[in-house]
Amino acid sequence: MKVSYLNPISKLGLDLFDDKYEVGAEYAESELVLVRSAAMHDLDLPACQLAVARAGAGVNNIPVEKCADSGIVVFNTPGANANGVKELTVAGLLLASRKIAQGIDWCQTLAEKGEAIPALVEKGKSQFAGPELMGKTLGVMGLGAVGRLVANAGVALGMRVLGHDPYISVENAWQLSREVEHSTDLDQMLSQCDYLSVHVPLTPDSRNLFRREIFEKMKPGAALLNFSRGALVNDADVKAALSQGKLRAYVTDFPNADLVGTPGVVCIPHLGASTPESEENCVRMASRQIRDYLENGSIR
Ligand code: MLT
Repeated sequence: MKVSYLNPISKLGLDLFDDKYEVGAEYAESELVLVRSAAMHDLDLPACQLAVARAGAGVNNIPVEKCADSGIVVFNTPGANANGVKELTVAGLLLASRKIAQGIDWCQTLAEKGEAIPALVEKGKSQFAGPELMGKTLGVMGLGAVGRLVANAGVALGMRVLGHDPYISVENAWQLSREVEHSTDLDQMLSQCDYLSVHVPLTPDSRNLFRREIFEKMKPGAALLNFSRGALVNDADVKAALSQGKLRAYVTDFPNADLVGTPGVVCIPHLGASTPESEENCVRMASRQIRDYLENGSIR
């Protein structure tokens, strides 16, 4: 069986394929494809292809319908990188409150100031002051593998945490701290949060979900965090909300030409799952799923 991969893939997961598999084959000749973030929508699906496995949770870079029509099974790896994304979301909460990114940028501008730097730092630091997280309210929208960890982390940081997810699974509900408040009324949650963290998948229904109508319902001066998918948020509306002071900050793992350089936007270069641990967990899960399908006929 020929296995190709469209992105650099952790070697530790690829080792799960034994001698029956030729790993690193040409895409056009491969029965199995491993992919991370490469967009597959414009690629031809080789006639020999049997399965595509995404080393990650989202499948929006894969033509799922086209694969289904051709009998190609698409796997993803929900949960395998959840801890990596949760940890970056915690960093995002801090970046949204303390002006850490702006302060670091400012320190770089002092590079030529030599011995004067310590005094300049003490004089200039007040412009980067920001509030603490403890006691503030965090709203978590989507309580799946990542959202539930973020909600629990918020509790551990001393925040009041509201969770909203009409489709929460029993498994995820069991894993939530009992201190997370179940919010059935989204509008009420939006009006109370100092921070709103988005953990929903990108689907035709959720595209542009976070737009003007939502921002108007949010507590004035709240911060929005997006470590899920860029297209969930309407960029023009988020920029308008920032310039009108309705939002204080937008921390996103999905920079684009509209967002980079916009005051109030903190751009991170899609680092949520970029940890050795997440990469290895995802490829291991993907490799096991593919083998289980081919060798035992199981589809999970
Ligand atoms: C995901 O969908 O889980 C992430 O986008 C994975 C990644 O960063 O490759």
